[in-house]
Amino acid sequence: MSISHHNALTSAQQQIQQDLNTTLQAFALPEPLQAAVHHAVMLGGKRVRPALCYATAALNPNQNFAAVRRAAVAIELIHCYSLAHDDLPCMDNDLLRRGQPTCHAAFGEDTALLAGDILQSMAFEVLGSRLFDQAQAVDQGIVLKQMQILATASSKMVCGQVLDLQSEGKRVDQTTLEKIHQNKTGALISAAIMMAAVTVFKGTDLALPKLREYAQAIGLAFQVQDDILDIVADTQQLGKTAGKDQQVEKSTYPALMGLQAAQAYAQQLHDQAFNALSHFSENTEQLYGISEFLLHRQH
Ligand code: IPE
Ligand code: IPE
Ligand code: MG
Ligand code: MG
Ligand code: MG
Repeated sequence: MSISHHNALTSAQQQIQQDLNTTLQAFALPEPLQAAVHHAVMLGGKRVRPALCYATAALNPNQNFAAVRRAAVAIELIHCYSLAHDDLPCMDNDLLRRGQPTCHAAFGEDTALLAGDILQSMAFEVLGSRLFDQAQAVDQGIVLKQMQILATASSKMVCGQVLDLQSEGKRVDQTTLEKIHQNKTGALISAAIMMAAVTVFKGTDLALPKLREYAQAIGLAFQVQDDILDIVADTQQLGKTAGKDQQVEKSTYPALMGLQAAQAYAQQLHDQAFNALSHFSENTEQLYGISEFLLHRQH
C-alpha cells in the first residue's frame, strides 16, 4: 500500500471511530440494544464510506466540516444496519463478520433485527442534530438534501437486497445483475460521496455531475470486487466466510462472466472512476488515495 492510500484511509478511520463513539454515547440505548449496536458499529470495518465522504469534502476545504462529519456517521450507521440484517438467517445466514460473530450470532435474531432498525433511525437523527458543533446553527437546506440522498439510497439498498435474494440459484442477465449491484451496494457508496458533495458545493457546480459519474463507477466496482474477493481471498483475510456466494448460488459477476472477465470489468469501472476524477485539479489527494486503495483492496 502506498503512503497516500495509507494516510487517507487511516486518518479517516481514526476520525470516524471517534465520531461513532461520541454518537453512540449520545444515544445511551437500553441493554441489550446498546451492546448489540456497539458490536455492529464499533468492531472493525474498513470505513470506506466515511473515507469517501471526507475525501469528497476535501475537494472544497473549510466548508461546514461538522455537517460532513455527521454525514459520514450517518452513512456508516446505515451501512452497519444493512450488514446486521444481511447476515440474518432469513437473508445470507452468516456467522462471521469483520472477524467477529455476526450480530445475531452474538445477541440473538430479535436483538440483531432491532439493532438494525434503530441504526437506521439514528442515522437520520444524527443528520438533523448539532453533533460535533454545538455552536454553529444547522444549515437546514443542506440537512434536507443530505436526508433525501440518504433516504433514497437506503430504499435502493433494500430493493437491491430483495432482488439479490430472489436471484439466488438463478442465472440472471448482466443488466439485471448490474441493477442488483448498483442498488444493494452502489447506492450507499454513491450516497457517501453525494452527501459530502452537496454539503461543500452549490447545486449548480459542475463538480456535482462529475462526482456522480465517479460515484456510480466506484460503487458498482465495489460490489464486483466483493464478488471476486469472495472467491480469491480466504476467510481470515476477509473476516467473513469466503466462498459463501458459490455455496448458495448467488448471482455474482464471476458466476455470470467468469473470474477473469469480472476482474477486467472491475478494472474498467475503476478506469471510468479515475477518468471522472481527472476533472478536478486541486485538493484531490485524499480522493485519489481512497480510489487507489479500492482498486487494490484484498479484503
Ligand atoms: C461489505 O461492505 C458489504 C458490501 C456492501 C459489499 P464493506 O466491504 O465495506 O464492509 P466493512 O464495512 O469493511 O466490514
Ligand atoms: C451486501 O452484499 C449488500 C448489503 C449488505 C446491503 P453481500 O451479501 O455480498 O455482502 P457480504 O459479502 O455479506 O459482506
Ligand atoms: Mg447479501
Ligand atoms: Mg452477505
Ligand atoms: Mg459478498
